Parts: sequence; structure tokens; C-alpha cells
Amino acid sequence: MSQHPKQKIHVRCNKKEAPMSDKTKANQEFDWANLDSDAGYLAWRATKLSRAEKCLSEAPVALSDLANPSESERKEVIRRCQESNFAVYSAPAETDDSTVRRQLRGFADAFGLRIAEAHRSEGEQGIVALRVSDTPEQRGFIPYTSRGINWHTDGYYNAPDNLISGFVLHCMVQAAEGGTNDILDHEIIYIRLRDAHPEYLRALMHPQAMAIPENVEKDGSVRPVSVGPVFYPDPQTGRMQMRYTARTRSISWRDDPVTLEAEAWLRNYLAKGDPLALRARLQPGQGVLNNNVLHTRTPFENGADTDLTRVMFRVRFHNRVGEI
Ligand SMILES: [Fe+2]
Repeated sequence: MSQHPKQKIHVRCNKKEAPMSDKTKANQEFDWANLDSDAGYLAWRATKLSRAEKCLSEAPVALSDLANPSESERKEVIRRCQESNFAVYSAPAETDDSTVRRQLRGFADAFGLRIAEAHRSEGEQGIVALRVSDTPEQRGFIPYTSRGINWHTDGYYNAPDNLISGFVLHCMVQAAEGGTNDILDHEIIYIRLRDAHPEYLRALMHPQAMAIPENVEKDGSVRPVSVGPVFYPDPQTGRMQMRYTARTRSISWRDDPVTLEAEAWLRNYLAKGDPLALRARLQPGQGVLNNNVLHTRTPFENGADTDLTRVMFRVRFHNRVGEI
């Protein structure tokens, strides 16, 4: 098709959107929960893998105002979340605590995200500052130390009616060293499992695959036992969500040989690393909005100064990042 140079630019913009609707269609046509049929799987798989590959070299989405992204910025973030379940963005750095909280509320609103409340370390309105902390309610919990955190999705211990479908991790201050996040779309792990061991995938979709025992919190409240599948459909959209932790303490896997093999395979596979995982050391003003994908954190070291004392804001959501 020959085009006037100006039109070419226009066509390229359109091209950007055309595959997106194809992908949306592919997502609707592919029933990921049905392992008895390969209908739609290969097409969906090919799209996912090529998109994930491309995503590794994409620059963060530049946001001129975190609290109020423009329509084109918003669409680009949503497109990335639709295709790869996460979007890294870069906004002007802001260091005032309450300003960033206000900005993050605006950001969540711009994407129609419902902030999950009632977390033990909930700061102002469900926005949690992750930093090394010795306060009684945070002491001993890994996120509030400088230790590394193994592969997990957020809120894997939550009750089935309180699952986390998305979150944003926003960097306020970087550590002097370390504090890198590895990020992996859980739909890529689904592909790895389905290709290598579909029987493992089936076991991990069992409604009793993974249980987190009841826990008595420091304030005396009881977090009830949480039993459920590793892969499950988002209640509103049917899109795949994952509930997982690679930790082996305080987790009880369904006592069935295939489930136990699946758990070991998955843990070893993630430890080796997937070539489509993104490694990001977020800088102040940068963040990752996502549909609760798999992620890690490497250990970090704070500097002597507060401007080298790592602070990340985290906001969890009960719904996925909106559709365009
Ligand atoms: Fe996390």
C-alpha cells in the first residue's frame, strides 16, 4: 500500500491499535481454563510470546502527570496491561509523601481501579509505604526489611472473596544498592507449564491446590485459612489470574503426587529464570502497574542519607486494569 509520508505515520498509529483488537478477540476466543481443547491456544500463545519479547525493550510509558494521565498515556498503559499484564511508567519524581499518595489515588481513579483496603500496614487509604521498618505491626515482615523476596503474586494469602487482581508499585526513593524487581507475566508461566507439563497445569487449577493456614495477627485478629487454585479466572473479566508464592513455609499444597511435582517444577523453573522476565530497577517517579503478575525483589542496601533510603509505595486493587 503506497502512502503519503504523513499518512504513513497515521497508518502506523492505526497499526498499533489494529493488532490490539485482534488480541482482545484472541483472548475472548481462547478459553484458557479448558485444557481439553487446544482451540485458539496456539494463536494466543504466539501473540503472547512475541508481545512479551517486544515488551522487554520498550521504554517506560512517559506520564506527564501521575495524578492525571492524558488519554493517550492512559491508553498506552492499558494496552500494555491488556497484552502483557503490566506496564512500566515514568512520571516526574516527587518526594513529598502526601503529594505522592494523592497522585496515586488520582492515578488509580484514572484507570477505574478499586483500592483494596484493610491491609495490616495500610497507610492512608490503602496506600502502603514499603520501607525498612521496626514498628510493632511491621516488624518481622519481609517487605519491611531489606531482604530479597522470592517469586510471588500479591495477596496470595487473602480469602477467596478478597483476592488482589492488580497493584501498582511506585518508586519514591531508590536504595543505594539493589532493590531490583523481576517481573513476569503469569500468562507466560501458564504457557511454559502447558507446553512442558499440562498435567501440572491441571493440578494447579484444582480448587484446593494451595492452602495458606490460618494466621493469628499481632493485633489478635485472625486471618482465616485461604484455600484455592493457583490459576483462577478474574471474577469480572474471566482473564487468568495467579495466586502463588515460591516460599515453602506456611504453605500447604494439595497432598497429591502431581500437585507436589508441579509445585517443585514451578519453584525450580522460576529460580532458574525465564528469558521473558523483565528486570527493573525502578527510579524515583517510575512504577509498574499490573494485573498482579509474578514478581520478586532483590536484597538492597540503604545509604546513610534519606535520599538513598528505599521507599516504594504500593497500592493493591480488587479489579484488573481497565479495558479500552
Ligand atoms: Fe509483592
